[in-house]
Amino acid sequence: MGYATFLRKRLIKLSDAKQKETVVDFMSGQGDLFDLMKGSTKLRRLNQVDFSKQMINRSEKDNRVENFCDDITSFEPSEKVDLVISSFGLKTLSEQEINDLAYKTKSSLKDNGEFYFIEFSFNFFEYLFVGCYLFILIVLSSLFYSPNAIYHFYFLRYSFLFNDKTVISSFKEHFENIEVKRYPGAIFISGKK
Ligand SMILES: C[S@@+](CC[C@H](N)C(=O)[O-])C[C@H]1O[C@@H](n2cnc3c(N)ncnc32)[C@H](O)[C@@H]1O
Repeated sequence: MGYATFLRKRLIKLSDAKQKETVVDFMSGQGDLFDLMKGSTKLRRLNQVDFSKQMINRSEKDNRVENFCDDITSFEPSEKVDLVISSFGLKTLSEQEINDLAYKTKSSLKDNGEFYFIEFSFNFFEYLFVGCYLFILIVLSSLFYSPNAIYHFYFLRYSFLFNDKTVISSFKEHFENIEVKRYPGAIFISGKK
C-alpha cells in the first residue's frame, strides 16, 4: 500500500464517509475514494466530479455512483449532500478555482454537512527533502530518459507549488470553522456548514 492510499483511507475514516448517505467527490479522478467506500451499506448516492473523460471512464460502474464529467464550477447536485470529499486534486487548481471550489462545496452541502479534503503539502524540512529528491530526479531523467521519473517530477512539481494558505483562506471566507490537520507531507482540511 502506497502513502497516497494510506492517506485516502485516513480521509474515508476521518470523514466517516461510510456512514453517510449522500456524498460528492470533487476531482474524483478514476474513483479511488469510491473504491474505499463501496462496501458502505448506508451510501445511497455518490456524485463524482472530474472534467477528464478518460479518468471518469476508468472509474468503477455502480448504480449508486453518478458521474459529472465537467468543471467543478458547472456542477449542481440533484440534492444537497451530507459530505463533500476530495483527494489530491487541490494542487492542480488556480487561486480562482480554489475559491470556486469553496463556494461549490458550501452550496452542495446540507446544513451541518461536512467537507474533508486531503492534499500533499510540505513544511520547511519536507521542502528541503523534496527539493533534493526533485534535483536528483531531474539529473537522472536528463541522463537516462525515464517516463517514470518524469511522471514523478511533474507530480512533485505540482505538490511543490501547492500553497495550502490559499486553500485555508478561501475556505475561511465561506465556512466559519475549519480544521487543519497535518500529516508528514500532507494536510487534511475539514469543516462543517
Ligand atoms: C491528481 S488527480 C486526483 C484524482 C483522485 N482524487 C485521487 O485521489 O488520485 C486530480 C484530478 O482533478 C481533475 N481536475 C482538475 N481540475 C479540475 C476542475 N477544475 N474540474 C474538474 N476536475 C478537475 C483532473 O482531471 C484529475 O483527474
